[in-house]
Amino acid sequence: MAPSGDALDSLVDWERGLISPEIFWSSEVYERELERIFLRTWQFLAHESQFQKPGDFFQTFIGNDPVLVVGQADRSVKAFINSCRHRGMKVCRADSGNSRAFTCTYHGWSYDIAGKLINVPSHADAYYGELEMEQWGLVPVPRIETYKGLVFGNFDEGAPSLLEYLGDMAWYLDALLDRREGGTEFLGGVHKIRHQGNWKFAAEQFAGDTYHALITHASAFEATADPTAAKRLNLATEARQYSSRAGHGLAGFADGDNTLSIDRMRALSRDHQLVADYYASTTAEVIDRLGKERAGALAFGAATVFPNLSYLNGTIANSSIGVFLPKGPNDFENWRFGIVDRAAPPEVKQAMARNMHVWPLGLADADDGENWSTMGTNMKGVMVRRTKLNYQMGVGHERDDDPKYPGRIGSQYYGEGPQRGYYRRWLDFMTSDAWPRLTPQAATA
Ligand code: FES
Ligand SMILES: [Fe+2]
Repeated sequence: MAPSGDALDSLVDWERGLISPEIFWSSEVYERELERIFLRTWQFLAHESQFQKPGDFFQTFIGNDPVLVVGQADRSVKAFINSCRHRGMKVCRADSGNSRAFTCTYHGWSYDIAGKLINVPSHADAYYGELEMEQWGLVPVPRIETYKGLVFGNFDEGAPSLLEYLGDMAWYLDALLDRREGGTEFLGGVHKIRHQGNWKFAAEQFAGDTYHALITHASAFEATADPTAAKRLNLATEARQYSSRAGHGLAGFADGDNTLSIDRMRALSRDHQLVADYYASTTAEVIDRLGKERAGALAFGAATVFPNLSYLNGTIANSSIGVFLPKGPNDFENWRFGIVDRAAPPEVKQAMARNMHVWPLGLADADDGENWSTMGTNMKGVMVRRTKLNYQMGVGHERDDDPKYPGRIGSQYYGEGPQRGYYRRWLDFMTSDAWPRLTPQAATA
């Protein structure tokens, strides 16, 4: 399959909700994604709290490019391709830490924390003193911008600002990032799980697939949640789905003051009780800051910032950021970071860290991974790949003029509007040579 624009159009019919599994399998589609999606979109790199001192570093990826993110002396953050300019060896091999410089272990070229080449062994003898070291610094990620603690990078000089890129997703993100004065911090550490499947399986699921939770996670819910609280939810009316023309998506419960969500946390353990009490005790403050819609309602849910950054907000007494890093068409890593209000008491932060190991790490991520890896294996089948998949749930039942929530809104628990919106945006990127800017009118088209 040649991935021309026309061919891609025939693979993704987002309007009718028909998608070809080829987009989860084809190497040509995948290579095109690395260029057109990963090198042009704002890519989540790290949280500012990971860089307390100059030289603090964290290693991640943009697409398949290894990226070294480093805290600078002026408290700003820079990012570089972690590849030595001499032969392409990694100049930093640790996942995270602090360093005054990065010295390549192959021949010893050394770079400072701003990416400048500062030492070349035997420069005078081997290079006759002629190598122009200022020309051979690490390749920077040219654009770095932050949104309320989250650090993003973008290789495309022509992309709009991060804020413009997020659009009304920023309004929803605030329910995670701006609940309290001081914002958030990461709990420390990152959990990495590898799945045999396509990275979009995970990204589209977090954008809006509440449908799977009741089946895929049935036993996990039974083990962790108060069943009477779950029964009190009316799924037909007490949830919302948000999709944005920019490809972002979110789904969550809309139970006003979150009492049901908070009650559901209490059942499991003392740690869950502690966090439920914390949420209950901060509800009034958050309503003051963000208003009732965001303090309650969709605050508790799952979301995807296009294309591969997802989060769970307040789910089973903790919040986490997930990023889905492609390793091949049928291979990806799910990296998950715990995120907490900086102002939360230490015992609540510790309880959240422990809760995160129960859900999502211990239960939900394993449940989801089983689906994604089995779907990935299925895609090996030729007939499987020739058969379109159904994304039609709720077609025509979303509105763009919800009085409370910005974006395109589905007014119940079930729906695949966010997934259709996700692939609509995916198609924009995959088929446009120029950066696919959205006009204000396009937002509701
Ligand atoms: S590859 Fe880094 S010094 Fe040679
Ligand atoms: Fe799930």
